[in-house]
Amino acid sequence: MPLTLPNLPYALNALEPHIDAKTMEIHSQKHHKAYVDNANKAIDGTPFANWTAEELITKLAELPEDKRGPVRNNAGGHVNHSMFWTVMAPHNAGGGGEPTGELGDLIKTAFGGFVEFKTAFAAAGVGRFGSGWAWLCWNKDAKKLEICSTANQDNPLMGKAIAGCAGVPLLGCDVWEHAYYLNYQNRRADYLAAWWNVVNWGQVAKNLAAAKG
Ligand SMILES: [Fe+2]
Repeated sequence: MPLTLPNLPYALNALEPHIDAKTMEIHSQKHHKAYVDNANKAIDGTPFANWTAEELITKLAELPEDKRGPVRNNAGGHVNHSMFWTVMAPHNAGGGGEPTGELGDLIKTAFGGFVEFKTAFAAAGVGRFGSGWAWLCWNKDAKKLEICSTANQDNPLMGKAIAGCAGVPLLGCDVWEHAYYLNYQNRRADYLAAWWNVVNWGQVAKNLAAAKG
């Protein structure tokens, strides 16, 4: 089955004033759609046409060499954006605030506190040269939370050799200019500061539970 563009779980203007409706429209309906279309073009008629997007990006090494680049970029873009929409929510649907319960405790253990975590995460996003993503991941071996960033549409699920970091992503923030330029222009740090107002910690907690299995 071809990969499909998911519906946003809220209206295009639901994340305003932090993320404007026009950015959400172009980002979800044009940029994300292009990743889906191009990923489908790359896998159409191949033996891996039925793989899920997650399977495609975790098993890049099993693909023919000429398919690896297009799948890395486009299935990667699809996986990354599909998560991005779900880890955000308007205030009346759980966006913003602070993580509680086990997730809150693990953040305290790994980073010293929520404020320290936000500082380190924003530094990963601001420090990513060019386009890419900042991530909060679950390290299964060390059984702890970690922050990292990847270039372009790489995802920690691709593994350290490809993405530069590994782990199960629980929260991802898109730091491509297309994610913020209309509203924030070159001010990536301002976008990252505002982004905390829409983070859906309930979903991140669910992602943690799934990652821990
Ligand atoms: Fe994006």
